[in-house]
Amino acid sequence: MAWFNRFAHGPTAIPESLRSVRHYLSGGELFLIARAAHDNSPLSTLVGTSQPMKQVARLISRMAKSRFPVLILGETGTGKEVVARAIHNLEPRGPFTVVDCSSLVGPLMESELFGYAKGAFTGAHVQKLGLLDAANGGTAFFDEIGELPLDMQQKLLRVLQEKEFRAVGGIAQRQSNFRLIAATNRDLASEVEKGRFRQDLYYRLNVMKLRLPPLRERREDIPGLVTHFLEKYGSGHEVPTDTMEALMRHEWPGNVRELEHTVQQMVAMNSGQWISRGDLPSAIANAEREKSALSSDGVRASSGVGTSAEILPLAEVEKRAILHALQVAKGDRTLAAAMLEIGRTTLYRKLKEYGL
Ligand SMILES: Nc1ncnc2c1ncn2[C@@H]1O[C@H](COP(=O)(O)OP(=O)(O)OP(=O)(O)O)[C@@H](O)[C@H]1O
Ligand SMILES: [Mg+2]
Repeated sequence: MAWFNRFAHGPTAIPESLRSVRHYLSGGELFLIARAAHDNSPLSTLVGTSQPMKQVARLISRMAKSRFPVLILGETGTGKEVVARAIHNLEPRGPFTVVDCSSLVGPLMESELFGYAKGAFTGAHVQKLGLLDAANGGTAFFDEIGELPLDMQQKLLRVLQEKEFRAVGGIAQRQSNFRLIAATNRDLASEVEKGRFRQDLYYRLNVMKLRLPPLRERREDIPGLVTHFLEKYGSGHEVPTDTMEALMRHEWPGNVRELEHTVQQMVAMNSGQWISRGDLPSAIANAEREKSALSSDGVRASSGVGTSAEILPLAEVEKRAILHALQVAKGDRTLAAAMLEIGRTTLYRKLKEYGL
């Protein structure tokens, strides 16, 4: 397993009673959309040995020690939630509660976050606790914070300032003491400039910032991640070098999540041990074909070998190839010969032959 390191282990130190938020709140009447960290959580392992990921690991362990807010930025699928859980799990205190801001929409939004009092509205037969109650004593992970509507941003800001809130229809102030971790794939600073995100809330969130690099900027993490996902989904499957190289060439717009789904798909489609390039999902295989067509077009165009419509005599092809190599090698004949995969004396002979 020399390919990769694992850091940030699962929350084994979390007491049994805190493994599930539902359990923690222990009541069927509770109103939750939270997920809790637990030992088998697929999000509790972080894989990566590239320089950017080593830096991320260093930041995570520093951030885990404090209780200040953390803002995690990164494209979709880069591992923002994995990192949020890792920060929490390194120094676990209380539950890890996910507040999915993109689902906090419509009239239920406030009651989901703050809970509601008995009789607050028709059908409110019992009091319900909200996500902020669930997060008390632990970490509240505000996922997709950039999606939070402006009025909710203001309400959240008040909670952060006063550490108190009131349930919908309630009179008493309730308290919740949580560590805030927020994540978004939006550029929050420019959202602030455009007036779509409150500046004061941005400052509150942006105490410690962690930017997750896209996978295409840390391709050396791909073999480790593939190995990790093979362990997770495969049954003795292996990826040979050429398939791995194709995976490393891909741009991965969906980042690690896309890679994970790809491995899952390849394992599902393959009953043998070896996953060949033919097993690559069509989107990746097509992109590979387009790339190689493009690059061979490039060679043809730049070497002047001609298009399929234009068939050149073999000697002319050779002459153009030599000229192109000399051009690329900036006149260095030894280098040109090496690029043409012929000996230096052969090159000299051919130069004479073609009168070059
Ligand atoms: N460094 C990593 N090591 C192992 N698995 C990872 C890593 N980064 C991401 N993953 C996996 O990739 C998937 C996506 O990760 P995650 O949900 O944390 O991404 P995200 O940045 O929150 O994405 P989105 O913006 O779409 O919500 C998860 O299944 C996660 O386990
Ligand atoms: Mg996410």
